[in-house]
This record gives sequence, structure tokens and C-alpha cells, in this order.
Amino acid sequence: MRHFLDLHKTPAEDLRGILDLAVRMKTARGDQPKGTPDAEQAMAGRVMALIFEKPSTRTRVSFDVGARQMGGQTLVLSGGEMQLGHGETIADTARVLSRFVDIVMIRTFEETTLLELAEHATIPVINGLTDASHPCQIMADVMTFEEHRGPIRGRKVVWVGDGNNVCASFLHAAGQFGFDLTFTGPQSLDPDPRAIAFAREKGATVEIERNPARAVEGADLVVTDTWLSMHDAQSARERRYKLLRPYQVNQNLMDAAKPDALFMHCLPAHRSEEVTNKVMDGPNSVVFDEAENRLHAQKAIMRWCLGV
Ligand code: CP
Ligand code: NVA
Repeated sequence: MRHFLDLHKTPAEDLRGILDLAVRMKTARGDQPKGTPDAEQAMAGRVMALIFEKPSTRTRVSFDVGARQMGGQTLVLSGGEMQLGHGETIADTARVLSRFVDIVMIRTFEETTLLELAEHATIPVINGLTDASHPCQIMADVMTFEEHRGPIRGRKVVWVGDGNNVCASFLHAAGQFGFDLTFTGPQSLDPDPRAIAFAREKGATVEIERNPARAVEGADLVVTDTWLSMHDAQSARERRYKLLRPYQVNQNLMDAAKPDALFMHCLPAHRSEEVTNKVMDGPNSVVFDEAENRLHAQKAIMRWCLGV
């Protein structure tokens, strides 16, 4: 029984093994209809609970479809409709869920909610995004990069904009998969210093460059995300947009990167804000492959957690 809580908490060789399995499973499915069961019914007889305290399209659908393809059953629960949202403790919720289901994924606000759930659950817990990180997303992102460009080790990734939860997981991945990461954005939105320290301890080069055009020089991959995350107060919108406008990923910025630099965004994108249509829909954008690979990467994560 293993939890998938964060990339820096999972051994690097296990992360690599998960991606290898994801690629094998994706290849084995080919382009069969989405409802076709996998030949290996790895989750047969198992039930998965998916808890959402924040909105979701990709995470919700990819976990649900993935578990079903592997023969599992799913329950999608919204935090507000559970007793969890009405005063029952996380610890008690963990103990109760552990009696009913075999594995749980949670998307929540505070990281402590995830950690408390994992501490008191006797079943695997998967992090489907907190205010602090989004590890499943970056597993899909690394898989997507490697599908298009080969090994990510030694490559240069540039994160543009807000040093948020997704950026923190990218920094963890830099340490675990051995690539370099340059952050470009306003100082007040710098990434979590602990994530930077982790990447550096593992030998990755992490740079901070305020000038976006200079930052993307030599980039193999340019990544951005929304300027206002689900945990950010709406009242911060104006201030953040003003700070982040110089960091829009547009064609001029992409032209300053390597000619074959890929563009990624975890989605949902706010077109014409953090990224232009030209880049989103351009030849170097792999955003929909990234979205698809959530399915394949997470199926491998579920199997790793369950040991099946
Ligand atoms: N990228 C991602 O996690 O998308 P959703 O918020 O739609 O799940
Ligand atoms: N940083 C975004 C990612 C959404 C998938 C958020 O937390 O809202």
C-alpha cells in the first residue's frame, strides 16, 4: 500500500517505473474506443473514491475513465456534499472511507488535508491537486515531453508566470528526472523555496530570470499556467494580472526559445491572458497530448499505489 502524495516524496526510480508502465499501457490500448476494457484488468473488484473540494474536468474524467478501463468502479464525491464539508474530521473521513473503498484520490485546498487523510487512511491516497502541488499533472507532462522529444534528462524547462502549485511539482520533477528549470515571473510570485531547494539538492540547475525573453533562450520546453489559481482570492485578480501581463506566452516569446521548443499548459487555459491562441494552437503546442496523458500516467500511478 503506497500513497502518491508528491513527486519529491516518491523514489525517483519508482517515478520512472510508473512512466514506463504508463507508456506500455498506452501503447497496448492503441486507439481502441475509450470504453474498451484493458486486457489486464488490474483494478477488477476494486472501488475508487474521487473527492473534489475544487472544480475539475481533466482530473475527474481521467481518473474515472482510467479506473473503469482497468476494471475498477468509481465514486465521484464533492467535498461540500460529504460530512467532511460539515464538520466531520479528515481523520474520521479517512477511517470510514478505508472501510468502504480500496483507493482514494482527493483534490483539496490545504496540503494538510491531504496529509491528514493519508496519515489516517489504511488505503492508498493520491494527490489530485492541493494549493501546494499537482504531482499527477507533471507525471503526464514528463511523459508527453519524452513522447515528443526523447529523454527529459539534461533538458531546459522554462516556467513562465506564477510560481504556483503546478510549478512546485515541476521543480520536484526537475530534481527527480534530472532536468534544469528556469523560472521567469514577478518576484512576489516566486516558487516555493523548498521546492527550489529540493531540485538543487538533487543536482538540477534552477535559475530565476526576471526577463522572460532572456529566460527562454535555449529552452526545450516552455510552460505556463493560469494567472489566478483556484485557491487565489478573486480580490487579487487585478494586482496579479498587472504583475503577470509581461509574462504572457505569445509567439514573440516562443520565437526566443529553441525553434523546436514545446509549449505546455496543464489547462484550463485562459486564452489571450497567460497564452495566446497562436501559441496554444500552434505547431509546438502539445497541450492536448498532455491532457490525454493524464489518463495513462494516472492509471500507472493507481497500479503502483495498489501494487497490482
Ligand atoms: N489540469 C487539471 O488538473 O485540470 P482540471 O482542473 O480540469 O482537473
Ligand atoms: N494552478 C491551477 C491549476 C489548475 C489545474 C490551480 O490550482 O487552479
